[in-house]
Amino acid sequence: MIPDPSPTAARTTGPDWWRDAVFYQVYIRSFADGNGDGVGDLAGIRARLPHLVDLGVDALWITPFYPSPMADHGYDVADPRDVEPAFGDLAEFDALLAEAHAAGIRVTVDLVPNHTSDRHAWFQAALAAHPGSPERARYVFREGRGPDGAEPPNNWPSVFGGPAWSRVPDGQWYLHLFAPEQPDLDFTNPEVLADLEATMRFWLDRGVDGFRIDVAHGMAKPEGLPDMLPMEDTGLLDDHGPGDHRFDDDGVHEVHRHVRTVLDQYPGTMAVGEVWVSDDDRLARYLRPDELQLAFNFKLLTAEWSADDLRDAVVHSLATVEGTPAPACWVLSNHDRPRHVTRYGGGELGTRRARAAALLQLALPGAAYLYNGDELGLPDVELPDEALQDPIWERSGHAERGRDACRIPVPWSGTEPSYGFSSRPDTWLPMPEGWGPLTAEAQAGDPGSVLSLYRAALALRRTSPVFAGESLTWLPAPDGCLAFRRPGGLVCLLNVSGDDVPLPEGEVLLASADVPSGVLPDDAAVWLRA
Ligand code: BGC
Repeated sequence: MIPDPSPTAARTTGPDWWRDAVFYQVYIRSFADGNGDGVGDLAGIRARLPHLVDLGVDALWITPFYPSPMADHGYDVADPRDVEPAFGDLAEFDALLAEAHAAGIRVTVDLVPNHTSDRHAWFQAALAAHPGSPERARYVFREGRGPDGAEPPNNWPSVFGGPAWSRVPDGQWYLHLFAPEQPDLDFTNPEVLADLEATMRFWLDRGVDGFRIDVAHGMAKPEGLPDMLPMEDTGLLDDHGPGDHRFDDDGVHEVHRHVRTVLDQYPGTMAVGEVWVSDDDRLARYLRPDELQLAFNFKLLTAEWSADDLRDAVVHSLATVEGTPAPACWVLSNHDRPRHVTRYGGGELGTRRARAAALLQLALPGAAYLYNGDELGLPDVELPDEALQDPIWERSGHAERGRDACRIPVPWSGTEPSYGFSSRPDTWLPMPEGWGPLTAEAQAGDPGSVLSLYRAALALRRTSPVFAGESLTWLPAPDGCLAFRRPGGLVCLLNVSGDDVPLPEGEVLLASADVPSGVLPDDAAVWLRA
């Protein structure tokens, strides 16, 4: 635990610190490499803590660093209570935690409850055991359909392509909503829930401040595992709604209630769920007083760059949390989706829009998650076929390129790959030529850089009383614009109209573009004190 930051009128302090915190997602493989193997690690994070302090984030979410064969780059966990040697060891983790806390930064880690790695001791024991054994009862083993049980038990597809079932030599099938190397656990088995609790306590006792819960809408499966409505898979973790029986089964809430009872024994800790459920009411169920403190709201991440779409995203996200104890939780990018610079058109246009989107995201009431590299305005990088690593590429028969493009290592300094990310030039995903101007070092000294914009935005958010209050009032705005006011006096205007619009009355606190003559240009946002 760390002491509260110096309280200001605008900040939430004490055990509810997360309500308006800015979290920073460290995708560990791509953040910073401390041991020179071309893959990021815990030592790399320690070395780059000063960057995070200067940036002004409140907390980290570190993606899985547990022992893993890396079939899904760490989301296939072989032992949830240890550290993958390529990333460091427990002593390194403890040192990182202590240093982050000393710097005033909280640390949250990934919890991956839905599945394990196929190399987890439990799954190895299940393979060695016979059908109907207690070892198999921790996973979802079933007999197949059709003559000789040669057909999978139901029609569910895997999120990564192909069927969600694989057959073992004795003829049974096991369920894996993701890769075959990620067998799903059976949460109706009390041993499974008890083990999740043991993992939580293991990290909470070391002093972590909370968890990001992977596939938090998974875990529970409907009785009898009925066929789902056949549907086209539209991409990783898209929410297909009620006909998709793989996710959002009502039984999942019992798991979240259990998670919450454990967290409540460690005051000041929290959990955010990765809940790909787009219906406002269904999503709100995860935020009941005895469940998750936060759920990512992916509506901003999936919105088109238009005033209608962006406003809709905000309206629905706020409607979701209304009537729950939770604040909204805003995300523009993560390690599973194209980066927003690229989504918004790439190049100079994408960067201009991404700057404006940052001011929108950080002006909204609630918590915000930044993905490493957002603060540098990183775009996606299309890699050649032979460099692709994401299991989606192979599983989809090369129909889907997967998520590597948004996972390129972070450029820190210099003018050539690997830009200070690693001591070697070749990194686990190759870094492109031409990223010199995007490095943290190059941007730090430039007041017009994306990094300078983020630093200024986070400093204001941390210290200015205009950010007080959790509500938002929409203001009249020109066509193609969004404008809202926070109770503390912050006004945010976003212009997506295709034209200049006049600046409203008030003192300009920060703008994503130059606003010299009383106008806000297209694809720009401004913060004003009303
Ligand atoms: C993670 C993905 C991962 C999947 C399976 C997702 O929610 O964000 O990166 O592949 O879960 O664990």
